[in-house]
Formats: sequence, C-alpha cells, structure tokens
Amino acid sequence: MTANASALFRASFGVAPMAAASAPGRVNLIGEHTDYNGGPVLPVAVAARTTVAIGPAEPGVLEAISTRDRSAVRIDLREDRPAGWTAYLVGVMRALGGDGGARVAVASDVPPGAGLASSAALTVAAAKAASLLDNARLTGRQLASVAFRAEHDHVGVHCGIMDHMSAALARPGRALLLECASLATSYIPLRGRFLLVDTGVRRDLAAGALNRRRAECEAAVARLKLELPELLWLASWPAGWLPRLKRALPEPLRSRALHVVGETARTRFGAQLLARGRLKRFGELLFESHESCRRLYDCSTPELDLVVAAARRAGALGARLTGAGWGGSVLMLVDRRREARIVAAVRRAFARAFGREPPVGVVNASGGVRREPVR
Ligand code: GLA
Repeated sequence: MTANASALFRASFGVAPMAAASAPGRVNLIGEHTDYNGGPVLPVAVAARTTVAIGPAEPGVLEAISTRDRSAVRIDLREDRPAGWTAYLVGVMRALGGDGGARVAVASDVPPGAGLASSAALTVAAAKAASLLDNARLTGRQLASVAFRAEHDHVGVHCGIMDHMSAALARPGRALLLECASLATSYIPLRGRFLLVDTGVRRDLAAGALNRRRAECEAAVARLKLELPELLWLASWPAGWLPRLKRALPEPLRSRALHVVGETARTRFGAQLLARGRLKRFGELLFESHESCRRLYDCSTPELDLVVAAARRAGALGARLTGAGWGGSVLMLVDRRREARIVAAVRRAFARAFGREPPVGVVNASGGVRREPVR
C-alpha cells in the first residue's frame, strides 16, 4: 500500500512525496454505541490499512488523488466544502489549523462502509502525514483528536472517539480497552480465533442514522438528569437502577438507554473475560450484544441477523454485528477445530437467503498509525 501511495503520488504530481504514513481499520469486539455515551469499547486494529503520501503545495490548496478515484481534485481550503472522501482530508487540514497547502495520494485496502472504520484510517493517516510535512511531533492521542475533530466537526458525522483512538493507539496482537469518558486505555492480549463476515450491505453514516441515535441518547440524558442531576453520560447511569430508568423514559429513548447501560456492563465484564482467556463466556456476551443492538438500538439488518443466527446454529462461540450497524460486517468467534464447518454453514445460509456468498476473513490484530518509508 505504501508503494502504491508513493507511486500514485509520483505519477500524478511528477515529484516524489516528502513523507508517508499509514493507519489501520478496526473491528470492535464489543461495546457498540457506547463511545459517544461515555462508556467502554474494545476495538482491535485489522491488517487492512490506509496509506497517505504527502508533499507540499501552494498555501491554502489541497490537491488529492486516491487509488479508488483516479482523478486528482484541487480544493481551495479556505472556500470549498467538498463532499465524499476529500471532505475528510479537508477536515484534517482545517483541524490542524496551519495555512500551508498539501498534495496527497491515498491508497487503501480498508473497504468503505464495511463497518471497519475506513474514515478513521484515512483521517488518522492523513493527520500523521500532514504533521510530518510540517515537522510537527504529535502524539497518538493528539492525532486521534485531530482526526476526530475532522470527522465530527468538519464532516458532520456525530461519531465517537473509538475509531480514531484505535487507528492511532492500537498494538499488534492486542485489543484496546478504551474508557471513552476518561480516555483511559489498557491493552488485552487477543486470544481466540475471530473471523469477519462482510454482508456487502453498505451504508453512509453521514446520511444520518448515527446522528439520529446520538440525538436520542442526548435526549435520554436530558430527561434522566431530572432523576440524577450529576449525570453527564448515559453510560454512567447505575446498572442497578433500571426500573427507575424505564419509568423516566418514553420509547424509543428507553430502549436506546437500556442498550447503552447494558452494553457498558457487558463490555467491562467482557474485557475481564478476554484477559482471563474465558472465551466461551466472552462469546455468549457477543451474542447478547448483537441481540441488544438488534432489539433495543435498532441498528441491525436482516443480513446481519441471518449471519449471526447461522453462526450460532453452526456452533460459533459468539457472533455480533461490529461497528455502527445498518449494514457492514459480522464478527464471529470460533473454535479453530470447527472453523471450516461454521464458515461453510454461514456461507450456505447466506447464499440461500440472498443469492450470493459473503466474503469471510480472519482478524489479525495489527498496530496503529506509523510513519512509512517513501519509495
Ligand atoms: C461508528 C462510529 C463510532 C461508534 C460506532 C458504534 O463506527 O464512528 O464512533 O460510535 O459507530 O459503536
């Protein structure tokens, strides 16, 4: 990928790039829709990465090209508000706040819309590349913060901080336990065999489903403050006070809040189980998490539900939608000895229902953002 980004840069701009950086996509093991509610998440960086090769341009101008969209665009950073993938790059440049310009070539094997946080891979890699161009030394957390502001404030997707923190701070062979209210991090060795089934159903988060859910969660907090004035985050609602929560909230706010409070407890417990290698119990939590996403948070699809049900019937230890939902991928935890049988059964069930076979890949926990050699 680095070679591709560098080669594309040379071919498009006629000079070598000055620097390059890459960042990974992620799969979230458990802790869905908890990040923007101040709860915990447990992502793992995947092997697929996005590489950004960068060089200088005239001040205030961004010239960008990618291997997916092979015509270079020229953007006035002060005036233009582009849509599509270049909006994320403009967001990064604005969040960094300099007045320089940049030429950028992007190569990626993180599939967009598959629930693997392709936009965070792009914004974190771009933030690192741009900081190298400026000779600025930003920490992983600072890069995550620039990338988050690019996506949240400039593009307008009301996401949480999970994807950017994962792309910036992930470590090979580890899951990242991130508490999103305090931003405390710890690393847990990834045990077990995790697979990803891509349902091929694509969604555009900027199109609004995530923003709507987030607004519902904020409305729930506003009402729950009447019960508990010091409540800052939905995830901080005491798990022992569910009857009170149910009384205080009308639907659909009640269901959304029950998901967030339940998922918060499941994620903290799940992290302990994973650390102790108790994969069977951990797998049960994955099924419970999917059920909660489906029934209470209403962010699943028939394709995701079918994969989870088929995985369960075929003997997977656990399975759930991963990422925002409304399409994308299912994460499965399997016993290696049963892997082939489970994969075949899931493929068969999916093909029977939807007339095509979904791709299945293995999760290899990789590392976060890094500088890449320029070739
Ligand atoms: C999207 C957002 C993340 C997170 C997940 C749901 O991927 O970008 O911040 O909210 O949805 O867990």
